Amino acid sequence: MKGIILAGGTATRLFPATQAISKQILPVYDKPMIYYPLSTLMLAGIREVLVISTPRDLPQFRELLGDGSALGMRFEYSVQDKPRGLADAFLVGEAFIAKDSVALVLGDNIFYGQGFSAMLERAASLVTGATIFGYPVKDARAYGVVEFDASGKVLSIEEKPANPKSNYAVPGLYFYDREVVEIARSVKPSARGEIEITSVNNEYLRRKALQVELFGRGFAWLDTGNPGDLLEAANFVETVQRRQGLYIACIEEIAFHKGWIDRARLLSTASTMKTEYGEYLSFIAENKGP
Ligand code: G1P
Repeated sequence: MKGIILAGGTATRLFPATQAISKQILPVYDKPMIYYPLSTLMLAGIREVLVISTPRDLPQFRELLGDGSALGMRFEYSVQDKPRGLADAFLVGEAFIAKDSVALVLGDNIFYGQGFSAMLERAASLVTGATIFGYPVKDARAYGVVEFDASGKVLSIEEKPANPKSNYAVPGLYFYDREVVEIARSVKPSARGEIEITSVNNEYLRRKALQVELFGRGFAWLDTGNPGDLLEAANFVETVQRRQGLYIACIEEIAFHKGWIDRARLLSTASTMKTEYGEYLSFIAENKGP
């Protein structure tokens, strides 16, 4: 399976912070935001990743992440010149996806919780169909929302409904078989002129090929939409990291534990960072991590 990180958009809700730089480059506590969705793909076992961003911002992601060899991965980069919707990622990424299945994660989505890796590995093992997730939120109006019948069967996904039929929002993490490119191509743009991921998910549902996995309450899916959300996410990461001494979304640690890079490579990255993050990489290299 391949992975795509969509890191486009203009993030006007964070102006002026994002007037000159990409939202997904901004730090969430101690590391760039894009590390979090990247770590999600890595935990799913995905080693080939396409980063999609705007013509202005793509060079920064390339500078930050390079060709992926420092993580034993392979990164590609593609420009999305206009925000045409999330499902457009599959058209921009068509050549990259080739004949594989593919996971899409939004560059500003942060996930954290016990059992997540197993859930990801299960989703990434799909051969046909699609797997998406449902996460309970207090106010689901800003999201794709899952509608269930009384027996828990999924009836539909609605995009940003004024009156949500459940409180289960669909997070920005989706796993699809190779049909997704053709489906994205056939989807009609919505009223806001975008090809919606929700339309793609409804097509999989119509084909009886959509799996919706629900997250329980012991799980964090965090938003970074406005300055308050961003600060809350940073505080959350800081709290967990300080308490446990174990990092959230440390991409080098994940690569090391997966055997994609060796100790020497990890130590060499550690030596470039005279920060707590760099010290943490040395700590992991000395096998002190769990
Ligand atoms: C997008 C999707 C929506 C999903 C959300 C998750 O919304 O359209 O279905 O629930 O991402 O973050 P938007 O990017 O418009 O906020």
